[in-house]
Amino acid sequence: MWKLKRTTTCGDLRASDVGKTVVLNGWVDARRDFGSLVFVDLRDRYGKTQILFSPDRDRAVHDLAAKLRGETVIAVKGVVRKRDADTINRKIATGEIEIDALELEVINEAKTPPFEIGDRVNVSEEMRLQHRFLDLRRPAMQRNIVTRHKIVQTIREYMDASGFIDIETPYMVKFTPGGARNFVCPSRLYPGKFFALAESPQIFKQLFMVSGLDKYYQIARCFRDEDLRADRQMEFTQLDIEMSFVQREDVMEAVEGAVAAVWKRLLGIDLPMPFARMSYDESERDYGTDKPDLRFGLKICDVSELVKDAEFKVFSETVKKGGVVRGLVAPGGGVFSRKEIEGLETYCKGIGAKGMVSLKIEPGWKAGGPSAKFFPEALVRALVERTGAKEGDLMLFIADEEEKAASVLGGLRLALRDKLKLVKDDVYRFCWVLDFPMFEVSEEGKVGAKHHPFTSPMDEYLDILEKEPMKVRAKAYDLVLNGVELGGGSIRIHQRELQQRIFKLLGLTEDYARDRFGFLLDAFEFGAPPHGGIALGIDRLAMLILGLDNIRDVITFPKTQSTVDLMTGAPGTITEKMMKELHIRVVE
Ligand code: AMO
Ligand code: AMP
Repeated sequence: MWKLKRTTTCGDLRASDVGKTVVLNGWVDARRDFGSLVFVDLRDRYGKTQILFSPDRDRAVHDLAAKLRGETVIAVKGVVRKRDADTINRKIATGEIEIDALELEVINEAKTPPFEIGDRVNVSEEMRLQHRFLDLRRPAMQRNIVTRHKIVQTIREYMDASGFIDIETPYMVKFTPGGARNFVCPSRLYPGKFFALAESPQIFKQLFMVSGLDKYYQIARCFRDEDLRADRQMEFTQLDIEMSFVQREDVMEAVEGAVAAVWKRLLGIDLPMPFARMSYDESERDYGTDKPDLRFGLKICDVSELVKDAEFKVFSETVKKGGVVRGLVAPGGGVFSRKEIEGLETYCKGIGAKGMVSLKIEPGWKAGGPSAKFFPEALVRALVERTGAKEGDLMLFIADEEEKAASVLGGLRLALRDKLKLVKDDVYRFCWVLDFPMFEVSEEGKVGAKHHPFTSPMDEYLDILEKEPMKVRAKAYDLVLNGVELGGGSIRIHQRELQQRIFKLLGLTEDYARDRFGFLLDAFEFGAPPHGGIALGIDRLAMLILGLDNIRDVITFPKTQSTVDLMTGAPGTITEKMMKELHIRVVE
């Protein structure tokens, strides 16, 4: 048993504590030897405290301290004393004091860690993930984890104060089609049957509304077998919300309140409310995406009308074929080298463009660049007026069918943001994107729900649902922050007949829809109230509030991009016996 139990933490002591005898427990952060004196910074999750070991105090204690290695777990008993004026450390909260050590207990030795336990990251992420328990000992990671805790805590307090109730939903569910790819768990008792891990609490929260459990929320884990990216994990956490007798404004207001509470508590910022609102069409047209980053301008301009008869065939032909020509202005981009411009063109081609035209704006309505000879002065003047470009700027144009041109320019806009450093840190621009299309066509040409199959179409489109499904708009909304989709939700269908029409449009036969969703369809016949809700990604929220660009840094034990856990080695094999019991066999 270790003997010296702490009386305070490594982050607590101040000048007002001088003279007290205290015991600290923690990890050796650093040891410095100054002549005969030994200084140790002792660390725990609350902070760091400097310990002084003097040979005049106790020779044996001093000699033991002189051998301490980093990350050793120790206990120190000593007296708090004020530091000399010239050794005060203003950077840490305990910087005015140090502990004059009387006793030292080595509780547990530590091997040299594979990387420094400091805020400077000097190793690969693989190394960090392999030794995540050490990576999580780093103060920066602890700050991330504590911030995440505070976010969730603030949300819980806000939701509770606003009359929401926290209800759990099952994680092991029946597979239903139409959403993300599911993870499945074979059933031991029912050969050939499987549970699916819930990709979200969607159907259950809707059933709560049918039950009359209005104003539900949950901090829920979701499981999706997706390709991972910087802002995607296969298990992630949502703030999930559902409300009855509401319109979309009511849901949006509830979310704005929760988000504002988080920003106030964590950053002391009063967010301007209500958040900006934009239609899906406007967002696609002006920003080339449904998740616009509004921290900077650079709106996309349509110049199709101006170039439809231009001598430059790439442009005029595209417009004649029903496509568009759109562009962006890179402010000050006139100084870009040919290589830099080629870099931008290569980037555009990488995301699907056929090419990119660049025109430098030179004095006297002249344009510069390889294609400039095709652009007479009058046209340059018209383009400049339309795009708002100034002398010294660079106009960049893409000609293509509308959707492609939008998405390429959306990407180019972000590339210019990064290249020209157009955004400052600590700027938060929220935006609701509204009036989404109801359906989308996948790359394989299949019609799917843009949000999910339970989203209600807007009333005014009910007549053309079957005739012109791609024109139908949904009562769906996304919350976007700084170009990241933070949340998505909708007003739901609450009538059996309409839900069946949607399933049919999505290609589900009546029998299959009944087999998979019978309980939901039945529920709609027993007094389903109008209802709607939303889910926000907690991991993404934490990432954005901390100014990070990867959600792995706010998740304790994340999977890598290639979907493995480098520390435990998951996914792993199971025994033959387990396989047998589960009635499964691996087919090579
Ligand atoms: P949706 O699928 O849009 O909606 O998800 C809502 C929010 O969850 C976050 N999110 C993710 N975060 C990390 N990794 C992932 N793989 C991941 N996938 C989604 C995003 C996203 O905006 N049931 C509906 C919500 C509703 O309609 O109420 C749903 O899950 O921040
Ligand atoms: P080409 O006629 O293909 O040699 O292209 C002449 C210039 O037009 C090059 O700078 C191309 O990058 C550019 N270009 C070609 N196709 C497009 C397009 N669809 N949109 C914008 N620029 C294009």
